[in-house]
Amino acid sequence: MTSNANQYTWAGRFAEPVSDLVKRYTASVDFDKRMWRQDIRGSLAHARMLARKGIIAAQDLADIERGLGVISEEIEAGRFVWSLDLEDVHLNIEKRLTALIGDAGKRLHTGRSRNDQVATDIRLYLRDAIDDIQALLKQFRNALVDLAEKEAATPMPGFTHLQVAQPVTFGHHLLAYFEMFSRDAERFADCKKRVARLPLGAAALAGTTYPIDREFVAAELGFEGVCENSLDAVSDRDFAIEFCAACSLLMMHVSRLSEELVLWMNPAIGFIRIADRFCTGSSIMPQKKNPDVPELARGKTGRVYGHLMSLLTLMKGQPLAYNKDNQEDKEPLFDAVDTVTDTLRIFADMMDGITVRADNMEAALSQGFATATDLADYLVKMGLPFRDAHEVVGQAVKAAELRGVDLSGLSLGELKSFSPLIGDDVYSVLTVAGSLAARNHIGGTAPEQVRAAIARARFRL
Ligand code: ARG
Repeated sequence: MTSNANQYTWAGRFAEPVSDLVKRYTASVDFDKRMWRQDIRGSLAHARMLARKGIIAAQDLADIERGLGVISEEIEAGRFVWSLDLEDVHLNIEKRLTALIGDAGKRLHTGRSRNDQVATDIRLYLRDAIDDIQALLKQFRNALVDLAEKEAATPMPGFTHLQVAQPVTFGHHLLAYFEMFSRDAERFADCKKRVARLPLGAAALAGTTYPIDREFVAAELGFEGVCENSLDAVSDRDFAIEFCAACSLLMMHVSRLSEELVLWMNPAIGFIRIADRFCTGSSIMPQKKNPDVPELARGKTGRVYGHLMSLLTLMKGQPLAYNKDNQEDKEPLFDAVDTVTDTLRIFADMMDGITVRADNMEAALSQGFATATDLADYLVKMGLPFRDAHEVVGQAVKAAELRGVDLSGLSLGELKSFSPLIGDDVYSVLTVAGSLAARNHIGGTAPEQVRAAIARARFRL
């Protein structure tokens, strides 16, 4: 063994060290060091199991616990020296441990491989990330419900094809997003069940010859159980793909909301104002106030979809069991976590900074014949078949449009000329308030129903 090769973990079998470029190409420490907490947690659980089963001595365990404690402090304080020569977070920590405590450090890796170690670290990391995301999602959903409560009876135009369709309340509109983000929370909770399974014990791929206790390690780490098959445990990253899929759906919902915020903020529409702390100006046009935060969120959605595609593609060609390809799982995953957590944190805060321009919503409503369906429903209740009612109201809308008034701007005489069934009670259905109040069933936009939906939402939170 040459002294030069000595620094490599596997120097025993190798004739020469790798070039600097290959070293840089194969190393992951620059990005996987962010899992150092999980790596130490996993090592502690593994070492405790080894000691319990008499595979290492009690004194070894005590040394390992002490050494890993020191390393935690060093990393936390920014004093730990990360080395590219040691490839990844696992070898960096293990080498330092041995430098600190001697032979006991060399015994830590008994019955373990980096293959089951890294799979465990990622799962621990993702489980923590899901918990963070759930807390933020809850905050955001709460903020949506708070705003919905304030605007439970505020009329706005509901759109189809981005054309004024029927009146809804702004609260009702916001609760639509509450539903979307609630399903996202369910998806993360479901994903977590499959993330929280223990790979350790699979070792490199086939299991290990030591009398290990995997259930103990799983319980120690708060996992729900062990991965059943050693080959599967070290190789598949479907749980990470599933996580990115849940992130993608969440961002898709964020992006839809963002698109609406951008539209609503446009001065030509002017439904809302967003607090200045979420907007920026233009370097050339002094009048501009740009909705940068929702625009960026809409843009970052593509980036998260990209991570999902990366991981799906990363996995598809891999034979069993572990392949180095899998080292490429981390950067997309970490970036998905960062993007989603930052986005949720900002959005939870931004809901608070929204001011509603009820006057502009009302004005937009009065221009779109939004109560036309209500008039048709009125005629149906008077006995006219719906298709005939649709025709009659179409003519009334045409006439009102020519006159430049809303349906409620037509006189009773004019309205009666389209159908003798129309009586003077018709104006109650032609008003926005009447139209809203009439949709009084679960899931409908009547303010009374919106308030009931808010109460149910609070209960679910
Ligand atoms: N850094 C590696 C990864 O991220 C750890 C596992 C390496 N295992 C191996 N046999 N090369 O996947």
